Amino acid sequence: MNTEQLVRTFTEYFEERGHRRITGSTLLPPPGDPVLFTTAGMHPLTPYLEGRPHPLGRRLVNVQRCLRTTDLEEVGDPTHLTVFEMLGTWSLGDYEGPASLDWGYGLLTEGFGVDPALLHATVFGGDGQVGPDTDSLELWQQHGVPVEVTGEDNWWSNGPTGPCGPDSEIFLWTGDTPPRSTPTRDDRWVEVWNHVMMRHRRLPDGSLVPLPQRNIDTGLGLERLASLLQGRTCVYDSDLFAPWRLRLPVLWPLDESSFRLVCDHLRSAVVVIGDGVRPANTGRGYVLRRLVRRVLTVLWRDDPSRGLGDLPAELIRHTLDHFRQDLPLDDVRRVLCEEERRFRRLLERGRQVLARPRFRGPLDEEDFHYLHDTHGLPRELVLSLRAG
Ligand code: SER
Repeated sequence: MNTEQLVRTFTEYFEERGHRRITGSTLLPPPGDPVLFTTAGMHPLTPYLEGRPHPLGRRLVNVQRCLRTTDLEEVGDPTHLTVFEMLGTWSLGDYEGPASLDWGYGLLTEGFGVDPALLHATVFGGDGQVGPDTDSLELWQQHGVPVEVTGEDNWWSNGPTGPCGPDSEIFLWTGDTPPRSTPTRDDRWVEVWNHVMMRHRRLPDGSLVPLPQRNIDTGLGLERLASLLQGRTCVYDSDLFAPWRLRLPVLWPLDESSFRLVCDHLRSAVVVIGDGVRPANTGRGYVLRRLVRRVLTVLWRDDPSRGLGDLPAELIRHTLDHFRQDLPLDDVRRVLCEEERRFRRLLERGRQVLARPRFRGPLDEEDFHYLHDTHGLPRELVLSLRAG
């Protein structure tokens, strides 16, 4: 199944079960949300999870692009991406957790053809404030799926305050030999689908109050699922990245982990630009700036003449099309190239400044402040220039 078929199978399965498809939002969360970017499919739905009636009813399904920078340092390994898509379903005060898990099991095994023997579930075992999730435990036991009971690993929240609740996660076995251990002990169990029983709100003092309705919020990472169903353990080997695999190595020969980083960050930069963000020194613009500069740092390590003006149009177009963005391709390229020019100038200035006798020895906090405030050189850059 390619990615497109997978999305169709997923949405149709839930539409047949009374869910209405909503259009995914941009990466910019609604006003008042505590994070810079949408990091989960539920973000744009927060007001509805908190009780406002949704115009399309109580059962929803969608595909939502998300950006997570918490994993930035892990990009380069086989599974982490900064921008990804989350397939999601919601019950806004309608059905309960066992129905959601039952459908999840049905879709994975019958719809996607996953061998039930390769599944494992985890459920919330309770804490001082909320009791154990026995409903989910019983559902999994009825299906004969092994279950691991955990504590905070099975509690989902969107931040220190706001909607939250116990969750039940579904894992798929990726090892070559039969599984002998559980998801928290063996990372060859890969999490594919999270079902959150979102029925609490955390207040600033840490206490929990019930939400006005008992919701279900589920999320399933599309790229990860696609690669697993296509028999790959690396997300960059799924059909979604095929054009990148074809074009990038010819242009810029890179080792595997650098390829993944360049591919991930460029794809994310295109999407973020497509959603209207421009490079800046703060907020969302700074995330974009970091993505582009990390790419350039990797590219220039081997060959400083490499430049983003050479990025094949097909890769920018493929990304814009996939994320249904209509910004003209040349505008994306212009933003990337302007940022590249700025970064080159900054590096030149940085090298000149750091060559001064004052900065030859160890640097103290005052030096870092001065370099930042007077010369626009962030600490990260100063450190990398001195290391290089
Ligand atoms: N909000 C949950 C998650 O992000 C399920 O969608 O995992």
